[in-house]
Amino acid sequence: MTNAAASWSMPRPLRVARVRRETADAATLDLTPGSRFAFTPGQFNMLYMFGLGEVAISMSGDPAQEDRIVHTVRAVGAVSSALSRLRRGGVVGVRGPYGSGWPVSEAEGSDIIIIAGGLGLAPLRPAIYRVLARRQHYGRVVLLYGARGPSDIIYRRELEAWRRRLDVDIEVTVDHAGADWRGNVGVVPALIPRCSFDPEHTVALVCGPEIMMRFTIAALRDRALPAQQIYVSMERHMKCAVGLCGRCQFGLHFVCRAGPVFRFDRIAPVFGIREI
Ligand SMILES: Cc1cc2nc3c(=O)[nH]c(=O)nc-3n(C[C@H](O)[C@H](O)[C@H](O)COP(=O)(O)OP(=O)(O)OC[C@H]3O[C@@H](n4cnc5c(N)ncnc54)[C@H](O)[C@@H]3O)c2cc1C
Ligand code: FES
Repeated sequence: MTNAAASWSMPRPLRVARVRRETADAATLDLTPGSRFAFTPGQFNMLYMFGLGEVAISMSGDPAQEDRIVHTVRAVGAVSSALSRLRRGGVVGVRGPYGSGWPVSEAEGSDIIIIAGGLGLAPLRPAIYRVLARRQHYGRVVLLYGARGPSDIIYRRELEAWRRRLDVDIEVTVDHAGADWRGNVGVVPALIPRCSFDPEHTVALVCGPEIMMRFTIAALRDRALPAQQIYVSMERHMKCAVGLCGRCQFGLHFVCRAGPVFRFDRIAPVFGIREI
C-alpha cells in the first residue's frame, strides 16, 4: 500500500463490503478499495459488471472516508439492475475517478443551496458531507430534495439527522403522497420562491432529471441568482469516460471530461435542447 490515493484506468475488481436498500429499485454499495481512494464530490466511476457491461455511477459517499467507495445505483437497464442486485462479497470492476466536481471549496464564504431530484441526491451527497464538515465556512446552507413519492426517498435516516441540525434548512417534497405523509407535496422548484438566501452571495448546486433542472434553474433565475453561480450535473451515455469516443458529446463538450458538473452559463445555449 502506498500513501498516494488510488486512481485506476483499467477496471479493478473490488468486493462489495455492504449493501443498503434505499428504495424498491435502488441500492447503495460500499466497496473496499484496498488502498486510499480520493475523489472530488461530483465525480464518477465506471462500474463494470463482468461479461455484461460498464456504466457511469457517481460517488455518493463521504470524501473524507478514503477506505471505501460508495455508489448508489438505480436499476433502469441490464447493467444497473445487475449492480443493484449485488450482495455482500460480490465483485464489481471499477475504474476512475473521472470528471469535474462541485465547486464546494470555491463556495466557502457564500450561502449554498443544494437542490436534488430523485437519485440526483446521490452525486450531491459527497458535497453535503464536505459542506457540513466545514459548516462554519459557509453562510446559510439550504437543501431542497424532491422525490416521486415517500417510498422513493433515499438516505432517509441521514435526511432526518440533517433535519435535526439547527444550521441547515431542509425541505423535502414529493410529487404524490398518501394520507400518512405530513410533508410538502409538489415539485421541488416550487420550494425555491419561499426559501431564504442572498442571491448575490449564493452558489446553487443542482442535480436531477433534466426537466427538473430546467424548472429549477428558471426558479433560481427568477430569484435573481446569476447563471454563473448555478452548477448542474449532466448525464449522457458514456463509453470510454476519458474523452476519446465522443459518445457523451453535449454541444461543444464531452460530459466525461468537461463535466459532469458544469457552470450553468457555460452550457446555457445548449441546455434544454432535447437532441443534444
Ligand atoms: C456522470 C454520470 C453519473 C451517473 N451517476 C449515477 C448514479 O450515481 N446512480 C445511478 O443509478 N445512475 C447514475 N448514472 C446513470 C447510469 O449511468 C445509467 O442509468 C446507466 O448507464 C444505465 O445503464 P444500463 O445498462 O443499466 O441501462 P441501459 O439499458 O443502458 O438504459 C436503460 C434506460 O435508461 C436510459 N439511460 C441509460 N443511461 C442513461 C444516461 N446516462 N442518461 C440518460 N438516459 C440513460 C436508456 O436510454 C434506457 O432508456 C450516471 C450517469 C452519468 C453519465
Ligand atoms: S464517454 Fe467517450 S468521450 Fe465521453
